[in-house]
Amino acid sequence: MKILLLGCNGQVGWELQRSLQPLGEVIACDFDSSADRRVDFTQPASVAALVDRVRPQIIVNSAAHTAVDKAESEVELARAINATTVGAIAERAAVIGSLLIHYSTDYVYDGSGSLPREESSPTAPLSVYGRTKLEGEELIRASGCRHVILRTSWVYAAHGNNFIKTMLRLAAERETLSVIDDQIGAPTGADLLADVTALMIARITAGDGHLGGTFHCVAAGETSWFDYARFVIDWARANGQVVKVAPEGLRAVPTSAYPTPAARPLNSRLSTAKLRSTFSLHLPDWRVGVERMLREISGK
Ligand SMILES: NC(=O)c1ccc[n+]([C@@H]2O[C@H](COP(=O)([O-])OP(=O)(O)OC[C@H]3O[C@@H](n4cnc5c(N)ncnc54)[C@H](OP(=O)(O)O)[C@@H]3O)[C@@H](O)[C@H]2O)c1
Repeated sequence: MKILLLGCNGQVGWELQRSLQPLGEVIACDFDSSADRRVDFTQPASVAALVDRVRPQIIVNSAAHTAVDKAESEVELARAINATTVGAIAERAAVIGSLLIHYSTDYVYDGSGSLPREESSPTAPLSVYGRTKLEGEELIRASGCRHVILRTSWVYAAHGNNFIKTMLRLAAERETLSVIDDQIGAPTGADLLADVTALMIARITAGDGHLGGTFHCVAAGETSWFDYARFVIDWARANGQVVKVAPEGLRAVPTSAYPTPAARPLNSRLSTAKLRSTFSLHLPDWRVGVERMLREISGK
């Protein structure tokens, strides 16, 4: 089986390079790959031509414009990467008969209320990132290709930059640290997403070809950025890392204290019942993956 992996050097893409290996020949491409594996999502026709050339049975797309605040002033770039090129890939997938796996986000919702969103809940993105990711989803659905779209949230990984690494750095440098406590979601490991992706592909290609559609995929449980930061910093302190900030130096602040170019959803709770029942999967509590990542990057 030939698997075309797009965005292989991002957080999720890096883990997919590992998890997809047992399923077949993985052709891993990214913006910064060497010439024959370089892919540029600002050029939809060239990405479509790559799909035609490789003729993969499976396409996994983890490339995206993920700089949420920059996207507010880079609308056309974000749209090209998150929507137009995704649509071009989906059109080729429909023609060739490839299965397309794609990732989307909690930012397609407006984050109102406190109930977890179902996949069928109304979408209402607050930002350019959220809007362009939703456009990408819609182009996939309109193409008629066989597909799986995984909406996820708060992604971290040992490979790449993310909230955990920022908190560890700031906690080592500062005596006080203010972190938002009124946005609620589930930190989700790129390794978990990559493993779930591989399991889904194995199931679908082994005969459950009718399975597909849009699913939420996040770790179990919920937290705020503040409690997430406290978990990370407490772990670092307990495990002999350099931590300057004292427990009382970590302060909870509302989102309104940190104006950013892009608005964030306050409620990022995503129900995963559909994914768990359709694919008979167990999703671990968010702390399991975060602690594993902390141990991995600290060598503990
Ligand atoms: N990160 C999160 O918290 C989060 C939350 C919810 C959903 N998601 C979704 O999950 C998926 C994976 O996210 P991630 O965290 O792994 O993202 P990431 O680490 O930012 O990786 C994205 C990859 O896309 C590549 N890329 C960017 N512009 C490109 C272009 N013009 N042409 C080709 N490749 C390009 C990046 O390359 P460069 O590094 O060279 O730019 C990078 O390798 C995305 O669909 C994202 O929207 C992420």
